[in-house]
Amino acid sequence: MTKILPGPASVELGNKLAEELGVETVPVEAKSFPDGESYVRISGDLENERVVVVQSTYPPQNTHLVQLLQLLDAARDMKASEVIAVVPYLAYSRQDKRFRPGEAVSVGTIVRLIEATGVNSLFTVDVHTEKILELFRIHAHNVSATPALGEFFAKRGLKEPYVFAPDEGALARAKSLAACLNADYSFFQKQRDRISGAIKTSVKEFEVKDRDAIIVDDIISTGSTIANAASMLHDQNARRIYVACTHPLLLSGAKDRMMSAGVHEIVGTDCVASEVSRVSVASVVAQSLRKTM
Ligand code: R5P
Repeated sequence: MTKILPGPASVELGNKLAEELGVETVPVEAKSFPDGESYVRISGDLENERVVVVQSTYPPQNTHLVQLLQLLDAARDMKASEVIAVVPYLAYSRQDKRFRPGEAVSVGTIVRLIEATGVNSLFTVDVHTEKILELFRIHAHNVSATPALGEFFAKRGLKEPYVFAPDEGALARAKSLAACLNADYSFFQKQRDRISGAIKTSVKEFEVKDRDAIIVDDIISTGSTIANAASMLHDQNARRIYVACTHPLLLSGAKDRMMSAGVHEIVGTDCVASEVSRVSVASVVAQSLRKTM
C-alpha cells in the first residue's frame, strides 16, 4: 500500500496529493527545540509500505531540509519497503556550479545528503535546471507546473495574451505556457552581477500595447527580475501584467516591488506556501507518481 507523509513544509499539498491518489496520509508531528534543532515524529506504521514523503525546502530552507532528511531517514528506519521523496522546491538549486573560484557547489551537497538517507527516488517541480537531475544516482524526475498554471490562466479570459520570460533561461517555460494559451511569447535579456547580486535588464521593444502580458519564472526571490521586466511592459502600455511563478519565495518586499512596477496580479503554486500560492501542483505530481506506481 502507498502512504503519504505530509512534511511540515507541505501539509496542504501532501493532503491534496493523497486525495488525488486516493491513498492514506500518516500525520507528522514537528517542533523546534529552544536551541533551534528540529524534531519530527511519524504517527503511524510504515512497515512494508510504499511511503511518499512530501516536503518542500523553501525558507527557512535549512530547517525544512533537515526535516526532509529526518523524515526520509525515519521512513527507511521504520521499514518502509520503498521511500519516495516529493520535494516540490529544491533549495540551493541556483548554486549548481562554481561561478567563482572556491565556491561550494551547494546543490551537489544537498543531493548527496538526500541520497544518503537511502531514499529510492525523488520528484521535484520545475527544477531550476534539469542538469541537477543528473547529479542524482537514484531516479530523479522533474514535474512541470506549466499545465496547472496554464489551466488557471486559460480561465482568466485574457486579452491577446503575450507571455514573457524575464531572462533567456526561462524561455522554454514561456514557450510552453504560451502553447497552453495559444499566445505569443518572447524573452528579456538579464545580467546579474555575481558579487553584488544586482540585476540589469536590457531595454527591448515588444508589440504589447493594449494586450495582457504574463511574465513567467521558476523562482521569485526579491522580485527584482520580474519588476525590471514589468516596468518595461508597463512603459510600453501593456493592458494588464500578470506574473506566473512556480516557487513564490517572495522575500524582502518582493510583492510591493513587483506591484509598484505595474504588476496587476501574482499567481504562484503551492510548491511554496505563500499568500499567492493559488495553483496546486497536486494533480501534475500525482500524474507523474502514478506512472511509477
Ligand atoms: C534565476 O535564474 C531565477 O530563474 C529567477 O529569475 C531568480 O531567482 C529571481 O530572483 P529575484 O526575484 O531575486 O530577481
